[in-house]
Amino acid sequence: MPILPLGIPTDLDKYFYNREKDLITLKSFLNTLNHDVANQMLVTGYRGVGKSFLLKKLLAELPDNILTAYIDMSKIFGIQKGRITEELIMNSLLEEMNESLREDMDDLTRSYDIVKDLIMKIWQKKFDFKEAGTAMGIAIPDIKDNYEKLSKFVMEFPQRVVELSNGKINGFVIVIDEFQLIGELESPEAFFWLFRSYTQEQDNVSYIFTGSTSASSDIVDKINGIKGAFGGRMTQYTVDPFTREESEGYLKERVSELKFTESGLNRFYKCTRGYPAYINSFCNTMSGDVEYDDELVIQTFYEKIEQIAIMWTAVWATLSGKEKDIITTLIENGPLNWSDLLSKVDFSNKTLAKYVNIIKNKGILSHSGKKYMIDDHMLFAWLEYKKERDGFYPP
Ligand SMILES: Nc1ncnc2c1ncn2[C@@H]1O[C@H](COP(=O)(O)OP(=O)(O)O)[C@@H](O)[C@H]1O
Ligand SMILES: [Mg+2]
Repeated sequence: MPILPLGIPTDLDKYFYNREKDLITLKSFLNTLNHDVANQMLVTGYRGVGKSFLLKKLLAELPDNILTAYIDMSKIFGIQKGRITEELIMNSLLEEMNESLREDMDDLTRSYDIVKDLIMKIWQKKFDFKEAGTAMGIAIPDIKDNYEKLSKFVMEFPQRVVELSNGKINGFVIVIDEFQLIGELESPEAFFWLFRSYTQEQDNVSYIFTGSTSASSDIVDKINGIKGAFGGRMTQYTVDPFTREESEGYLKERVSELKFTESGLNRFYKCTRGYPAYINSFCNTMSGDVEYDDELVIQTFYEKIEQIAIMWTAVWATLSGKEKDIITTLIENGPLNWSDLLSKVDFSNKTLAKYVNIIKNKGILSHSGKKYMIDDHMLFAWLEYKKERDGFYPP
């Protein structure tokens, strides 16, 4: 049985397949940092399509004169059991950015120690920026509001690093993964505007916001819609699943022990739709001892669907009852327009609007031709299977 990673492996190169064009495109947007032009980017795509892996690979491949930081909002969210604050995000961001100064940075090594000390203090709710502000040349106003001080320091930090490096560093690239969770802050708009206002004056800092959300979701509008903070100035990029050919190439390279007939391969592609997450989890249930034809692929798919759809078990556990109600209603009834959906769930118009937005941001629900539907066929298949087998949807 093959063992393909279900998360993102520590050894990026060992498992990373292709994505040559995506890497070239993304690098070209970041390369402008060398000419003091900073692009801001928004990378979307469905869950499991390979955004995080691609962006980690991208950061790893950037030259030494570009510093990088990566934060995953879902981790911050997870640690806090769902209660997330701007302050926490800022401190995590500072921690990650500061880590990139650790190695071999001459003058900046001293700043690293000072900022590390500052971060420790902030975790203990002591907002004393005197030493770190002086070391980094960031003037922190003498005000009571701790978040205002912290956000100013954090937002100015990456550009100051470039300036303090004496030409050694040309840019700072910061990835904010699962950014749609920012939507759960009290005012996501204010948070996005903060980034907008600082990046506007910084020539060497590129942020890449990325998340499992559709390019038409409300949160994308808030950050980059006409009335959003960046007002369309962000470069939007969508990560697509593997094509049929790429999927086949991936299987040949990674799991050459698995044997398929032509129709078996076609069926495998239909089942996984080229999502590397599903290709990996499906392969892990297969055996090198048999040849997979169309029928055997279907049979294996239904026998092992719990394992193949594993990604959703974790997500499902984080959803609220109302979010689950909306999803199962759409599974039972197929795509529905607003009034039909409203009549089938027993909550108010306002409540429905709120939760529909939340699951849209999470890239679970989409809206097209006035109908609401579930985006992911694997989630659909898994829930249908659970209902049929157990008589009820997973709690
Ligand atoms: N280019 C790739 N080559 C090999 N495996 C990949 C590739 N992209 C993604 N994967 C695998 O697919 C799974 C989902 O990828 P991930 O980057 O976490 O998706 P996303 O962030 O879009 O939800 C992971 O297990 C990862 O190892
Ligand atoms: Mg991801």
